[in-house]
Amino acid sequence: MNNFTFQNPVKIIFGKGSIAELPNNMYKGEKIMLTYGGGSIKKNGVYDQVKKALEGFTIIEFGGIEPNPDFDTLMKAVKICREEGVGFLLAVGGGSVIDGTKLIAAAVDFKGDPWDILAKGADFEEALPLASVLTMPATGSEMNCNAVISRRATKEKFAFGSPKVYPVFSILDPEVVYSIPKRQKANGLADSFIHVFEQYLTDDIDTPVQDRWAEGVFKTIIETAPKVLVDNPPYNACANYMWAATCALNFFICPGVNQDWSTHMIGHELTALCGLDHGVTLSIVLPGTMRVMRKEKKAKLLMFAKNVWGITSGSDDEIIDKVIDTTEKFLQSLGIKTRLSDYNIGQDIVDEIYNRFKTRGVELGEHGIVTPEKAKAILEDRL
Ligand code: NZQ
Ligand code: ZN
Repeated sequence: MNNFTFQNPVKIIFGKGSIAELPNNMYKGEKIMLTYGGGSIKKNGVYDQVKKALEGFTIIEFGGIEPNPDFDTLMKAVKICREEGVGFLLAVGGGSVIDGTKLIAAAVDFKGDPWDILAKGADFEEALPLASVLTMPATGSEMNCNAVISRRATKEKFAFGSPKVYPVFSILDPEVVYSIPKRQKANGLADSFIHVFEQYLTDDIDTPVQDRWAEGVFKTIIETAPKVLVDNPPYNACANYMWAATCALNFFICPGVNQDWSTHMIGHELTALCGLDHGVTLSIVLPGTMRVMRKEKKAKLLMFAKNVWGITSGSDDEIIDKVIDTTEKFLQSLGIKTRLSDYNIGQDIVDEIYNRFKTRGVELGEHGIVTPEKAKAILEDRL
C-alpha cells in the first residue's frame, strides 16, 4: 500500500426532509450567493424548500449555470460576488452547479486570470466558503474538492482540485431523485460506476480494504440501477443510489491505491469537442480502456470479474473478454449507446484528441502508462 494522508472535512446531512436543516448550518451574517442551473429546481420544489429554509438570510441569486459549466458564465458570478461583497456560496444543483460554484469560490480573490487555475494549475490563496444542496447523484462533487469546468469559446474542458474548495456541508435529500429525467439518472449511474473503476482498475498492490469497499460500491450501483431507472422509484433505491454516487468519489476508496483517470481525461475531450454528456463519454471510452490496457490491468480485471460479476470459468483471457462484454452490456442496460459511431463521431475527432494529448505532453493512467498512442488505440477500439 502507498503512504497516504486522508482528511475529508465535508459534513453530510442525509435524508428525507433534510433541506430544512439549512439554517442550522449556514454561516450567519454573510451575504449569500445562491447558485443554480437551468431551472429544474424551480419545477421540482427544491427552490421553494431552500428559500423557505433561508427566510431572513440575505441572498443574491445566480441561475443559468449550464451542464458542463461554462467559464464565461461563472466569471459573471465572480464579478457580482466582488461588487456585492458576497461571503458565502450555496450551490443548489448537480455536479455542474457545485463545480461551477467551486470555481467562483476560488476566483473571487484570485489576482490573475482565473482560467490559469484550470489551464495552468495556478494556486490560489483563499476561497470563499461554499456548501451544497445536491439535486443529482453522480459526480461526488458534494463531498470532494474537485471541479471540472468547460470553456465553449475554445472547446476546452479542464479540472482543478484544492482542499480550499471542499464544501463546508452538503445536504443530500434522496427525494430530489424523483424528478431527474431517465437520461440523467443513467448518466449519474454510469459516472459513479466509472469513478470506482478509475480508482480500482489499476495495478494490484495488495489493498484489500480499499478493494472490498470499491466492490461494495460497484455492486450497489449494479443492483440499484434498474430500481431507480423506473418512473416513481422507491425511496430506498434513491437513497442507495445517492449515497453510492457520493461514496464513489469522496476519496474513501482511493487512499493508498494507484489511480487511473484516463477514461475521464479522454471523455472530457469528447465533451469539449462534441458536446456529449459526461456519463456518455465515459461509457463509450471505458470498454476501450479495459481492452487496450488488459495486459497491464490483468490482475484487477480478474478480481473485478470474480468479486463483482461472479465470472470465474475459462482461461484468464476468456474471463477478461467476458467481463469487458458484461460491463459494456451493463452500461447499455442504462440506456446509453456505447460506440463513437452511435454519435456520428469518426477518425477525425480521434486524431484531434491524439494531437491535443501529444501537444500537451500528457501521460495518463497509473504510472503514465496510457500514452497518447494508447489513448488513440482506446478511441479507435470504440469507432
Ligand atoms: O440545470 P438544471 O436545470 O438544474 O438541470 C440539470 C441538468 O440539465 C438536471 N438536473 C439536476 N438535478 C435535477 C435535474 N433535473 C431534474 N431534477 C433534478 N433533481 O440534470 C442535468 C445535468 O446536471 P449536471 O449538474 O450537469 O449533471 P452532473 O451532476 O452529472 O454533473 C456533470 C458535470 O460534473 C463534472 C462533469 O465533467 C460535468 O461537467 N464532473 C465533476 C466531478 C467532480 N467535481 O468531482 C467528477 C466527475 O467525473 C465529472 O467530471
Ligand atoms: Zn465522472
